[in-house]
Amino acid sequence: MAKHQTSFVCQSCGAVYNRWKGRCEACGGWNTVVEETGAAYPLAGPVATRPSRAKGRVFPLEGLAGATHEAPRTPSGLAEFDRVTGGGFVRGSVILIGGDPGIGKSTVLMQVSASLAKGGHRVVYISGEEAIAQVRLRAERLGLGDALVELAAETNVEDIVATLAQGKPPALAVIDSIQTMWTETVESAPGTVTQVRGSAQALIRFAKSCGTAVILVGHVTKDGQIAGPRVVEHMVDAVVSFEGDTGHHFRILRAVKNRFGPTDEIGVFEMTDHGLAEVPNPSELFLASRDHGTAGTAVFAGMEGTRPVLVEIQALVAPTSLGTPRRAVVGWDPSRLSMVLAVLEAHGGLKLGMHDVYLNVAGGLRISEPAADLAAAAALVSSLSGAPLPADTVYFGEVGLSGAIRPVAQTPARLKEAAKLGFPNAVAPNARGDKGERPIPGAASIGHIADLVAGIAAAARPRPMPLQRRREG
Ligand SMILES: Nc1ncnc2c1ncn2[C@@H]1O[C@H](COP(=O)(O)OP(=O)(O)OP(=O)(O)O)[C@@H](O)[C@H]1O
Ligand SMILES: [Mg+2]
Ligand SMILES: [Zn+2]
Repeated sequence: MAKHQTSFVCQSCGAVYNRWKGRCEACGGWNTVVEETGAAYPLAGPVATRPSRAKGRVFPLEGLAGATHEAPRTPSGLAEFDRVTGGGFVRGSVILIGGDPGIGKSTVLMQVSASLAKGGHRVVYISGEEAIAQVRLRAERLGLGDALVELAAETNVEDIVATLAQGKPPALAVIDSIQTMWTETVESAPGTVTQVRGSAQALIRFAKSCGTAVILVGHVTKDGQIAGPRVVEHMVDAVVSFEGDTGHHFRILRAVKNRFGPTDEIGVFEMTDHGLAEVPNPSELFLASRDHGTAGTAVFAGMEGTRPVLVEIQALVAPTSLGTPRRAVVGWDPSRLSMVLAVLEAHGGLKLGMHDVYLNVAGGLRISEPAADLAAAAALVSSLSGAPLPADTVYFGEVGLSGAIRPVAQTPARLKEAAKLGFPNAVAPNARGDKGERPIPGAASIGHIADLVAGIAAAARPRPMPLQRRREG
């Protein structure tokens, strides 16, 4: 098996072929298969590093109820970061953190490292991309120049593991980034799938054996996937993405996968001159630059994990000049927009076939909840009719294909957050809350999409809405 040979490896998913292919059969990517020279390795499974032995070693099996003496988690001290990891770093766990170039990965990780070091833990920060002077400069700018973080600019994984294993194992080791690391056990060039996978494997093995929590920084490709192998995502304990667009100053940390915690929590930060500042109340930030009194905007009372988040949904519905009207959406699921539009046509009596539709979630937040349906529908109807929605009202509820508005979870929490931020009114299904209480005096229960359209149309005096005659079934 140790014979040197060339293999062809998909740089996107890690599939291995024995000849070049224009299109990867495993993931369907075009031009992703690249020739890599190196020791032959099995077509499936992990990279072979040890020769197989004829006879296995017998190891003792342990009971589930064994005693674990160490505290299970080490909080980083940055509340928004800990919220995403599920309360801090688990001993020996490996976190992959991905994000666009320049989004602030190195910045947030330097802040986490310094915070942990201030708590008396040993922290090592290995940069494969920047010189030590650059890392120091950043730390100084962040006001963390005096933190006891141990630095190195290294890329050889064997050297790194040997250094980390010396003395007391660090509580945290940051590897910035995994794409720059290379291991001697693999002959391919750094940055290739095989190298990234081999390096990650060596670092993961170190984390598990020494109990050090390891953070791997990963670059992200244009389509938002962590570059290189998806395989690394399966190998690590948690995958966290750092999002936000560079035009906005806030950044969102979101767990995509987490073996030790929830995956629906987000951490919100604001990029400032002094690094990333935590945002304990994101709703205030998302609603800060709202236009009052314009048609086409609705405030959605959403939930991100256990935390209610209020955000503005903006819609623009305008007559099209093209044969096929445009549908564009930022921050929401395009197929949900299509569904809401179809329901508005079929059950709300709206005619949208000759209109371009644009939908945007303000501030760069990405919403995945179906509860946003009603807010999106309200913004769309408002834009079409030219009637601004009441400025003190939030909207939430799932829209069914029949036009019925279905109740959503955690209604009381949403209503409470809305009331706290100065929205005394709500349009939602079952606005009374789960136990029949009425947390908001102005909360109006809504049962059907037609009621929403009728309610907004009633306010739209100046310009009549292009309504179809509604067919009663
Ligand atoms: N002097 C400065 N003042 C304010 N903000 C700065 C300053 N220097 C850098 N920044 C901000 O920090 C961001 C870069 O952060 P950082 O280097 O942590 O990103 P990164 O995600 O690690 O990028 P890369 O993928 O290149 O490693 C810049 O986009 C900028 O917004
Ligand atoms: Mg960086
Ligand atoms: Zn592939």
